[in-house]
Amino acid sequence: KADELRFDGQVAVVTGAGGGLGKAYALLFARLGASVVVNDLGGSAIGQGSDSRAADLVVEEIRKAGGKAVANYDSVEEGEKVVETALKAFGRIDILVNNAGILRDKSFARMTDADWDLVHRVHLRGTYKVVQAAWPHFVKQKYGRIINTASAVGLYGNFGQTNYSAAKLGIVGFTKTLALEGQRKNIIANVIAPNAGTRMTATIMPPEMVEAFKPEYVAPLVAYLGHNSNEETGGIFEVGSGWIAKVRWQRTGGYGFPANRELKPEQVASNWARIVNFDDGRATNPETTQDSLQSFMDNFGNIEEEVTPKKEQGSLDVEA
Ligand code: NAI
Repeated sequence: KADELRFDGQVAVVTGAGGGLGKAYALLFARLGASVVVNDLGGSAIGQGSDSRAADLVVEEIRKAGGKAVANYDSVEEGEKVVETALKAFGRIDILVNNAGILRDKSFARMTDADWDLVHRVHLRGTYKVVQAAWPHFVKQKYGRIINTASAVGLYGNFGQTNYSAAKLGIVGFTKTLALEGQRKNIIANVIAPNAGTRMTATIMPPEMVEAFKPEYVAPLVAYLGHNSNEETGGIFEVGSGWIAKVRWQRTGGYGFPANRELKPEQVASNWARIVNFDDGRATNPETTQDSLQSFMDNFGNIEEEVTPKKEQGSLDVEA
């Protein structure tokens, strides 16, 4: 069919594909013709132990349905081994979905270095290591599709998840820079913040929600972003329950103080309402670091003429 998104002849690597979201991605890519590397360390939800069965079962399911898949049981921290499996079995890699993850929830006061480090190693460093191994192949073949996994918790914060939210927002920044560096080489990188009923969320979501938020509702976006026809790059998407949206930054119009005057904390205080006002029609959505910088550059031209002694600094009228 002309309009079906197919992946015949392509190779997809999905990390953490032994269950939950990753499994749904692996099954979908395989059904649409891709050869799939099903990576999963097979440990517990808090990152203890390992077991090859998780990945094996998914590979079996794909093969039974007539698809092509191989298993890899390494931790994503050993990204080169994950990618090596793709090259050995299928000779190439076209699509990389970094999805593996664990949780170590603790209120910040109780957070240990071990909780912090393990979550960072699996999510942020793991994502980095698998991309690092795939990148040279993407560059050489001038083709690559990367889908990384953040979380709403990284974008908005959540009680008990300082370690996880920091790692997840790290993945957003990582992805946006990859998108820039990959642009000329047809390497496209996006990041998703999914919501799905899985082992990871089963302890938080009520059973009806776990049932309703099927990973199968997230997989089609991942497939689309991984497809040859997708040109979107550097995007952040929230996805779940059949709902998909794009997220971007918004910045207030801000308040520019005279560049030729000393700036005092009191002036910040007296202009606070303007600094934080998103609703005065001056808010923008910076897309690039250059966009961001422009307002700073512009303010260098904000030179205040000599004022009459009567008009004191710090007395700027907030609502005028
Ligand atoms: P899950 O626990 O069902 O799946 C994660 C998989 O990653 C597991 O099969 C696990 O064995 C594997 N894994 C863990 N550490 C690994 C490592 N070092 N190397 C290789 N594999 C490893 O969880 P779920 O929900 O499917 O999560 C998938 C991704 O989506 C994670 O990155 C998670 O943080 C993210 N996410 C999920 C949300 C949800 O609502 N389910 C919400 C926001 C983000």
